[in-house]
Amino acid sequence: MTNSFVLKGDILWSRTPQDMTICENQYVVCEDGVCAGVFPTLPERFASLPVHDYTGKLIIPGLVDLHAHAPQYAFRSLGMDLELLDWLDTQTFPQEARYADPDYARRAYTLFVDDLRRSSTTRAVLFGTLHVDATLTLMGLLEDSGLITRVGKVNMDRNSPDCLREESAAASLAATRQWLDGCRDFTRSRPILTPRFIPSCSDALMEGLRDLQRETGLPVQSHLSENQGEIAWVSELCPDSTGYGDAYDRFGLFGGDGCPTIMAHCVWSDEAERARMKQNGVFVAHCPQSNVNLSSGIAPVRAFLNEGLSVGLGSDIAGGVHLSMLRAIADTIQVSKLRWRLQDASLAPITLPEAFYLATRGGGAFFGKVGAFESGFEFDALVLDDAMLPCPFDLSPLERLTRVVYLADDRAVAHKYVSGLKLM
Ligand code: GUN
Ligand code: FE
Repeated sequence: MTNSFVLKGDILWSRTPQDMTICENQYVVCEDGVCAGVFPTLPERFASLPVHDYTGKLIIPGLVDLHAHAPQYAFRSLGMDLELLDWLDTQTFPQEARYADPDYARRAYTLFVDDLRRSSTTRAVLFGTLHVDATLTLMGLLEDSGLITRVGKVNMDRNSPDCLREESAAASLAATRQWLDGCRDFTRSRPILTPRFIPSCSDALMEGLRDLQRETGLPVQSHLSENQGEIAWVSELCPDSTGYGDAYDRFGLFGGDGCPTIMAHCVWSDEAERARMKQNGVFVAHCPQSNVNLSSGIAPVRAFLNEGLSVGLGSDIAGGVHLSMLRAIADTIQVSKLRWRLQDASLAPITLPEAFYLATRGGGAFFGKVGAFESGFEFDALVLDDAMLPCPFDLSPLERLTRVVYLADDRAVAHKYVSGLKLM
């Protein structure tokens, strides 16, 4: 078994948002791609496995990016002085239209996948564009990278320019089936149904996607309650809905049995919307950097945690400009402090262990048993080398991880394992 081995080092992982387990100079065992536990001394039954000695380095579960737009990586940082709807119209839609050209798509997606492969991200849930061929190109590159991903061909048949709009609901659904056919044999890069957001999708398209979801059991991703201008538009478009979440729920595309769903942002989700998400098991992808860049606001992550919602972190490339989930951890903490100080003193700031939990186990749960070094979890791990951050006094493993989060970047990733496969 080539993917059975032992890593030795300073091992940190989360049991709960508040409870971080820190195992200094210990062994974590991977048996056939699955974690067999963490041990202070190596049990006899694992004595025949190869031991990779990373003494002095940090070993953490892989980081999960629950929401990013692969085609937007190319133009990250451009046009950041706009709010969401103007940014979509003037930057995003024209940029995504370029992916009609297969050569452009391959070049741009190669740059993205090369960087994602070297990053601290082990798993990601991605938007592509509405183009079938380009999205299959992206999935092919991801499949070969060894990363584990869910990728969506975007559905959009209204309220966007001619260059980036499907002709009709029927045409969008036919293209979706063609795409699903094209990625049938992929094992590590798998599909997720992706209505862009309510303003982009006609009622007929949403109904067709619901039928397709029921037929295939595929998960769903979209955007929810991100920005005030967007929310006002949705209430105009859906006068009969009680809210934005309800506008998805009416079409049966808001979680519930057999319909795993991620909603990105949820900055302005009120108590009723959050209660519906909790009831339906909808995952929140919290995207702190994007919500700053597009002046969307700060999501109430403390309320999500208090209320028991499932939450992970997203880079939201290119609303967010940084691919690194280490940066998303720091951003989560920092924006939560501003929210607490300026907006709502009843919701305490997010701590480093909590943000670390969200980036590992929180988002990992969307993929199953992922994001912790508990026995039976898929073996996703990063070996972090913090030698580039010398310090004149002694540091605990948690202090060293904190410094990597705030001071380092993805160059600190020395080795990376995804479901037992060594990527670097
Ligand atoms: N809502 C609909 N499309 C998008 C997008 O591409 N990015 C963000 N941040 N929000 C969206
Ligand atoms: Fe997004």
